[in-house]
Amino acid sequence: MEAVVICVDGPSGSGKGTLSQRLAEALNYHLLDSGALYRVVGYAALVNGIDWADTESVTQIARSLDVSFHSAEAGVRVTYAGDDVTEAVRSVRGGEGASAVAAIPSVREALLSRQRELACSPGLIADGRDMGTVVFPESPLKIFLEASALARAQRRQSQLQQQGEDVSLPRLLEAIEARDLRDRTRSVSPLVPAEDAVVVDSTTMSADEVFAHVMSLVTQKGLVHSDG
Ligand code: DC
Repeated sequence: MEAVVICVDGPSGSGKGTLSQRLAEALNYHLLDSGALYRVVGYAALVNGIDWADTESVTQIARSLDVSFHSAEAGVRVTYAGDDVTEAVRSVRGGEGASAVAAIPSVREALLSRQRELACSPGLIADGRDMGTVVFPESPLKIFLEASALARAQRRQSQLQQQGEDVSLPRLLEAIEARDLRDRTRSVSPLVPAEDAVVVDSTTMSADEVFAHVMSLVTQKGLVHSDG
């Protein structure tokens, strides 16, 4: 049986990560956090003294990226070259690096097959920006999760506070708006909903409400069986 791929695209802070983790758990599917791949590429460039604008060297890094993901009690841990880099890649700086390297077409190309390899039985929840438009265009259910920039900045602030990083709301809002603009207007794989995506605006919804709504779409599409 071919693996079912459910795409969850949208901007940072829209709740994609939480939704994707819950869907993967409920359906017992694999999980692809594609943003983490771009974050690790940016981080690897940084620690190897490579400028994010050096497209050739950054592409080499993406092609031979020694990255792995492990489930832990408090969420997924990210390892680069054997080191746990979870906090570093999820920091504000990590997000900036990811956004910079994600705008390089050859980096995106280098990560394509790695992402597609993860689509194995029984299914995959693919969390990203271009999952529905580029990586898995045949997916039977594509969710595009939106939320206002302010709501996303507030969510990001409490997430960072839990990690011990204190960043002011105006600074976060500014960073989110700048990143959105870069992600939405770049020429390669811009952040846009696929034509057949279901757009869900989570600004005034709780994580539970978003999850319940998307699970009802999963059921409507016949992607979940009554025995679990
Ligand atoms: O989802 P995230 O915040 O971890 O993503 C970090 C950056 O990576 C974000 O600026 C956009 C980029 N990204 C992308 O271009 N394509 C993806 N499929 C996932 C992330």
